Amino acid sequence: MCQFDNAAPTPNGEDEWVVDNPRLRAFIAAVTGIRNSTDDQRAILAGIRPHFEELLADDRWLPAAFQEPHADSGMGGGIGMWLLYRAGDGSLAFSSLVVPPGSQTPVHDHLAWGLVGLYRGAQDEVVYQREDSGDEDGKAVLSVKERHSLVPGDFYELLPENDIHHVRTTSDFTSVSLHLLGIDNGCIVRHRFFPDEEKVIPFKSGYVNKPCEDEVAV
Ligand SMILES: [Fe+2]
Repeated sequence: MCQFDNAAPTPNGEDEWVVDNPRLRAFIAAVTGIRNSTDDQRAILAGIRPHFEELLADDRWLPAAFQEPHADSGMGGGIGMWLLYRAGDGSLAFSSLVVPPGSQTPVHDHLAWGLVGLYRGAQDEVVYQREDSGDEDGKAVLSVKERHSLVPGDFYELLPENDIHHVRTTSDFTSVSLHLLGIDNGCIVRHRFFPDEEKVIPFKSGYVNKPCEDEVAV
């Protein structure tokens, strides 16, 4: 399967605080400290976990505007992916994914370490594993590896070798999940899978509220 040269800075090369309040600042500071202490992705995830759990349990810091669906997004289905924060060098991004009732994301990957947790509503997640070598361009054979039902406070880890999934909202109201990724996941080119057709194509989700570097007019 093709991989992409993906790491890229933000459009202005500066850290972006789309949501800026002491609670989020404290969380990102903790994450940055952990990232600066080790390069081991599993150790980074383990270090961040308790901080992420606390943030998920706090319903005061995320403005309502970032918990709204969006009619026209790269995910389709009215799914809004809102950037909350990203590091200027493109090595960290934090976003909220808002999925209307009955909608589901495409089957996709992430190509980086990450933590994803449910903040509001309920979701079913299906995790896939790759069954083919990935040598044939455009082809991907997937099988279902795990299924999870998530309620607020539940979260899971992503690692590049274990990061193909889709999620669907099962609550009768919009679900909101928080995504912390070790890359600018809205702006990188990753993969969208069609399991029934054994097909894979390049995929970029974008953010509904912020452009990627290559989308900025010069
Ligand atoms: Fe995902």
